[in-house]
Amino acid sequence: LGPNDLDGVRLVVSAGGTREPIDSVRVIANRSSGKQGYAVAAEALARGASVTIVSTVSLPTPPGAVVVPVETAAEMHAAMNAAADDHDVVVMAAAVADFRPASAATGKIKKRDGVPEIVLEPTPDILAGLGENKRAGQVLVGFAAETDDLIANATSKLEKKRLDLIVANDVGAPEVGFAHDTNAVTLLRPDAKPVEIDLAAKRDVARAVIDTIVDIRRTR
Ligand code: PMT
Repeated sequence: LGPNDLDGVRLVVSAGGTREPIDSVRVIANRSSGKQGYAVAAEALARGASVTIVSTVSLPTPPGAVVVPVETAAEMHAAMNAAADDHDVVVMAAAVADFRPASAATGKIKKRDGVPEIVLEPTPDILAGLGENKRAGQVLVGFAAETDDLIANATSKLEKKRLDLIVANDVGAPEVGFAHDTNAVTLLRPDAKPVEIDLAAKRDVARAVIDTIVDIRRTR
C-alpha cells in the first residue's frame, strides 16, 4: 500500500449535504461539511487515482481533481449516475436528504400568509441504484451515518445496497462525523472482519478507506 497503488484508477466521490428547496430562499439541509468526502478525494489523488468530486460545498479543490457542483438530491443522482459509467471506484460520502418538499413554492413564502404546511416526498436512493447497476469489477463504497445500532444498521445498508464496503459512522459520538475535523468509523465488508478506526483526522480515516479499496481490488 503506498503512493502509486491507485495509478490508472478512476474514482468518483460525492461530498457534502444536499439542499432541497422549500421556496426560492429556504431549503431543507443537513450538517455535512464535505470534509470527509474531500479527504477521500485528496488521499485517492495522492495514491495516483484520477478523481472526480460530485460536491454540494465549495471547499478548496484538491489539485488535480475535477469538481462537479450540485445542490439537490436529484442533481447528485444525475451526476453520480453519469459518472458511474466511467469510474472504477464509486464512493458516496455525501449526506443525501431522504425527503424533499413535493413542490417548491415560486418566490418567497410570506410570513403574513401564516405557517406553511410543507408536504414531503422521498428522494431516490442514489447508492441503491448504483448497486443495482454496478459494472463488473467496479468497487462501490457507502457511508452510514447512524446514532443507534451502528453495526446492525450499517450491515443492513451494506447488504441492501449491494456494496463492497460501508464506512459505519457513529455520528452521535463526540468529535465524530458531521463538520468535525476528526472522525471514528468501522469498516464493514461482506466477507471480512470489521475493522475499527479510532478517533483520527478525516484524512487518516480516508487513508484507511483507500487501503481497503486497494485490498478489495487486489483480492478480486
Ligand atoms: O461531510 P462531513 O461534515 O465531513 O461529515 C461526514 C459524514 C458524516 C457526512 C460522512 O462520514 C457520512 O457518514 N456520510 C453518509 C451520510 C448519510 O447520508 O448516511 P445514510 O446512512 O443516511 O446513507 C447511507 C448511504 O446511502 C450513504 O452513502 C449515502 O450517501 C447514501 N444515500 C442516502 C440517501 C439517498 N437518498 N441516497 C443515497 O445515495
